[in-house]
Formats: sequence, C-alpha cells, structure tokens
Amino acid sequence: MLDEFLAADIVVIGAPMYNFSVPSQLKAWIDRIAVAGKTFRYTAEGPQGLAGGKKVVVVSSRGGFYGPGMPAATLDHQESYLRAVFAFFGITDLTFVRAEGVALGAEVRDKALDAARGQVTRLAA
Ligand SMILES: Cc1cc2nc3c(=O)[nH]c(=O)nc-3n(C[C@H](O)[C@H](O)[C@H](O)COP(=O)(O)O)c2cc1C
Repeated sequence: MLDEFLAADIVVIGAPMYNFSVPSQLKAWIDRIAVAGKTFRYTAEGPQGLAGGKKVVVVSSRGGFYGPGMPAATLDHQESYLRAVFAFFGITDLTFVRAEGVALGAEVRDKALDAARGQVTRLAA
C-alpha cells in the first residue's frame, strides 16, 4: 500500500463521515502509509513531508451539513484531519468533492449527489 501510494501522481479517496471523522478503514490505511523515512521525517527544524507533489481528491459523503456557518461546523473532524495528515506528508493539493445531507431525505440526498456528480465532471475536465 505504501509503494502504491508513493508511486501515484493522483490519489482518489472515498471518505464518508463516520462519527464526525473518517471511517476506521480509512484511518487504518493512513496508519499504513504514515511511515517515518518514507512519507515524513523528523528534522532538527521539525517534521518534514516526503510525499509532496501529489494531488489528492477526497470524495466525501455526510449525513448532515458541516460547512462554514452551519451549526454543526465545529464537529467536522474529517476535513481538518485529512488536511492535517496529508500536509504532514507534504501534500497540500487537496480537493474535496462533497455530497452533504444524504441522511436528510430523498430530495436533499438527490440534490447533493447531483451537485457532487457535477463537481466530479468539472474536475475530470
Ligand atoms: C457508522 C456511521 C457513522 C456515521 N456518522 C455520521 C456523522 O457523524 N455525521 C454525518 O453527517 N453522517 C454520518 N453518517 C452518515 C454517513 O456519512 C453517510 O450515510 C455516508 O453516505 C455513508 O457512506 P457509506 O455508505 O459509503 O458508508 C454515519 C454513517 C455510519 C454508517
């Protein structure tokens, strides 16, 4: 998994929000690729990312809404965690594709999925 990650130019990650953060399966994958001397190292000046130059696309669904200004915004430990861990690896080119509110009924869900599909189409172009 580490070799596959290091060899990739673009990494696409499926990340539903589970309990305000990432699923344990995604956390387990991150724990496998967080290897000192491969994706980061500690120097006298502090930590240094070794896996820069990649583009990461996070495709994320959530039952509710956690965007800026929403009452639950402070409970979003998913995007902040992913940005932090990839920055630690030296990767700051992250794009989030979102479908939010998928648990709030068919109408909200369909609208969210349509918006996310549109975002994917624009990104692919
Ligand atoms: C175990 C579990 C925990 C969840 N926790 C949250 C949560 O904290 N906030 C939220 O908005 N949605 C939450 N959801 C809803 C999911 O984010 C949403 O349904 C997502 O689309 C599930 O994707 P999946 O079917 O690929 O697992 C949770 C769903 C599951 C199964």
